[in-house]
Amino acid sequence: METSSADKGIFSGDNSGTREHIVELLTKAYWMEIETVMSYLAASTNLDGVRAQEIRESLAGDIEEELGHAKEFAARIKELYGVVPGSEEFSPAQSFLQPPEHQTDVVAVIRGVIEAESGAIEYYTRIIQETEGVDPVTQDMVIAILRDEQGHRRLFEGFLREYEFEGKA
Ligand SMILES: [Fe+2]
Ligand SMILES: [Fe+2]
Repeated sequence: METSSADKGIFSGDNSGTREHIVELLTKAYWMEIETVMSYLAASTNLDGVRAQEIRESLAGDIEEELGHAKEFAARIKELYGVVPGSEEFSPAQSFLQPPEHQTDVVAVIRGVIEAESGAIEYYTRIIQETEGVDPVTQDMVIAILRDEQGHRRLFEGFLREYEFEGKA
């Protein structure tokens, strides 16, 4: 019996354009994760002060999770016959997560993290929509990652709320 297009799904010849498109979507997601690792590593190291300790520790934990996401995106790019790009193809987008003027400015970092997580949530929601009925494996993976990002954002929204309550944000 011949294998039909439907059996091969995203790997069928008819779907090569779609597969390339998904690889492009995943490549952008990969870079977003890599940039987040850079930004969170810098922020968790640079922050000073007693109040910053909680944020530093939380960011340090997130670095590992974001790196884990980057690895997942890389593996999926390869599975879809794409090539994980080299560093020369990187272009930064997180202007909002550059080190603040004062390294005790915890609120600036919290706001930057919320913006980064919101960007990831918006973009991963788009990937989930675009892979609907096309590539359930990628979709499933991105749904799990999206949940992590929602958790990260919720945590930092809680931090911001505390500073707002105290009139420091
Ligand atoms: Fe992530
Ligand atoms: Fe995140």
